[in-house]
Amino acid sequence: MKYSEKLRIIEEIARAPVYYPVGFVKNKLLILSNMEDKLTLWILDPSTGEKEQIVKDPVTGVAKPVEETGMIVYSKDVTKGRELSRIYYMYIDEKIEYEAKKFPPQRIVGMAADREKIVFTGSLENKIMLNQITMENGRQEVVYEDQRPFFVSDVEDNVVVGSGHFTEDPRASELFFFDIVEKKLRVYTPSKGSVNEPAELRDKKLLYLTTAFGDKKVIIHDISTGVDREPSYRYDDYRQEHYPDYAGIGWTEEGKIWFVGKKNGRTTAYIDGKKLDLPHGFLSGFVVKKDKAYFGHSSLTVPPKLYMYDSVTRETRLLLDTTITNDILEKLGETKFIKYKSFDGLEIPAFISESRITSKPGPTVVYVHGGPWGEVADSWNKFIAALVATGFHVIAPNFRGSTGYGEEYRLMDIGDLGGADLQDVIYARNYAIDTGIADKTAILGYSYGGFMTYIATTKAPELWDAGVAGAGIVDWEEMYELSDQLFKSFMDILFAGKKELWRDRSPIHYIEKLRAPLCIIHPQNDSRTPLKPILRFMQKLIEHEKTFEAHIVPDMGHYLGKTEDAIKIIYPAIIFLSRYMK
Ligand code: 4NP
Repeated sequence: MKYSEKLRIIEEIARAPVYYPVGFVKNKLLILSNMEDKLTLWILDPSTGEKEQIVKDPVTGVAKPVEETGMIVYSKDVTKGRELSRIYYMYIDEKIEYEAKKFPPQRIVGMAADREKIVFTGSLENKIMLNQITMENGRQEVVYEDQRPFFVSDVEDNVVVGSGHFTEDPRASELFFFDIVEKKLRVYTPSKGSVNEPAELRDKKLLYLTTAFGDKKVIIHDISTGVDREPSYRYDDYRQEHYPDYAGIGWTEEGKIWFVGKKNGRTTAYIDGKKLDLPHGFLSGFVVKKDKAYFGHSSLTVPPKLYMYDSVTRETRLLLDTTITNDILEKLGETKFIKYKSFDGLEIPAFISESRITSKPGPTVVYVHGGPWGEVADSWNKFIAALVATGFHVIAPNFRGSTGYGEEYRLMDIGDLGGADLQDVIYARNYAIDTGIADKTAILGYSYGGFMTYIATTKAPELWDAGVAGAGIVDWEEMYELSDQLFKSFMDILFAGKKELWRDRSPIHYIEKLRAPLCIIHPQNDSRTPLKPILRFMQKLIEHEKTFEAHIVPDMGHYLGKTEDAIKIIYPAIIFLSRYMK
C-alpha cells in the first residue's frame, strides 16, 4: 500500500466524528463532538436536525447543563496541552463565553452546576481544591483544599457530592458530601473498603454505584436520613442479566432510573428496568428527555452515530451519521471477543480484529489501552481501526487492572504495575501466535499503553518485532517528581505506596536488554506523562546503539483534543510498523 493511501485511510478515520450527548438545554441537545476537527460543544435541535457549534476551541471537560437557566459550563486548556485549564460558561440564549479569571489555571477533574452556582475540583502542584462560583454576585472562591484526591460529580442546593480516596486503603474510594453553607466536608462509605462512584443528585437523594453490598450495584442514598436502598423498577427486564460494570446511571426528570449495563465490552440500556432494543456495540453518553433517549453508538467496526430512541414506539432514529468511505470500512474484518488464560490461570478478556487485507498468520499488533483503569470495548477506536484498515491484525487484551469486568479484577494491578499485567499482555501475544493469527508481533499503546510498550520490549525483549510507545512512562521516580498533586496521589494509590517497586518497574533501567526497534511518539507539553524522562531514555538508547525513531509533537499535550493530534500519532506509528513488520 502506498504512503498516500495509508495517509488517506488514517486521515479519514481520525476525522470521523464521535458523538457524546451531555444533556438538554432549552429543548436542544448539547453534544460533545469533533465534527469540525476538534472535540468541542455543539447543540442539536432533534426536531429539525439543525446543529450549531457553540464553542470555538477544544474543550477538556463539560458539566451537565443547567436546564432552567440554559447555562453550559466547560473547561478549556489555556497552556498548549499542559492541561492547566480554566472554567468557562455561557447561556444558550446569548452564547457569550464568560471566563472564571480569578482561579489559576489548574488540572480540572470534575465540575457541576445548578442555577445558583458552579463548583469544580482542580489540582495544582501540591493541593487539590474545591472551587465555587456564585452566579448572583460573580464571586469566585476556593471553599475546600486537600492533599487527597477528590472529584466533584454533582451539586444541588447546599450539597456538593463527589468521591475521593480519603483513607489509607488504595483499593477503596468513598463518597463525600460538602456543605456549602457550613463549608464542611463529610466523608461517607456504606462499608469500609468498598468502591463508591456517585452519579446524580435529585431531591436530596444520591444515585450511586457501590461494591458495599457485594458486586457493583446501583444504590440510592437518602441524604436526609442517611439510608441506602436498592431502587425499585416498574419493569423487570433488568433481572435477566447481571452486569459487572456500568457505562452510566442517572435519574430521569420524573424520578425514574436509567442505567447502561456493561458486560464483555458491550452495553445494554434500561429505563425504569425496561430494556431498550439496540444493536450490538457500545453506547457513549446517554440522555433521557421525556419518553426519548439520546446516545452515541458504535462498535469496533462501525464508526459512531448519534441516535434517538423512542420508548413508546420502540423505534430508533438516526440523528447524526458518520462519513468514512465504504472501501475503508470493508477492510475492517470481524470483531471477536475471546478469553485466554494468563500465566497464573486467570482468564483475560480480549478483542481481536482481523484485517481483511492481510493473510493469516500475518503481522499483528498487541494494542495496549491506557488508564491503566480503562478498557478496549466493542466501541470505535481510531488506533485499532487505522491499524486494521492498513493491514495489521490487532489483539487488544483487557489485562488485569482493566475496567468492565468487576472491581475485583480492576483492582488486581494495585501494587504490581508492570508485573502480572505485563504477563497478561505477553500472553495475548502468545495467544495470537498459537491460534494462527500472528507471525510477526508488535506492541503499541498510548499513555499506560506506552509504558507497557517500553516495559514489554525491555523486560521480554525476545518476543517483539517492533514497539510503538505514545506518551509512555520510562521512569516512575522522575515522573513522580514532575507530577502535580493529583498524579502523585494516583501513583501512590496504583503502587500502594510501594516506592521500592518504582526502580524495578522503570524501563529506563533495562535499556541494554532492548532488541526490537522502537518508535517513540511523545507530546512536547505532556504533563501527565512528562517528556523529560523520555529524553534521558533516548540519550541512553543512543549510547547503547539501539534502533529507534522519535517524534516529539510540538504544542500538544497528553489529551488528544484535535483531529490532527490523532493523525500526528497514528501516521508515524503505521509508517514505522509497515517498515519493521512486513
Ligand atoms: P493514562 O495516563 O494511561 O492516559 O491514564 C497515565 C498517567 C499516569 C499514570 C498512569 C497512566 N500513573 O500511573 O501515574
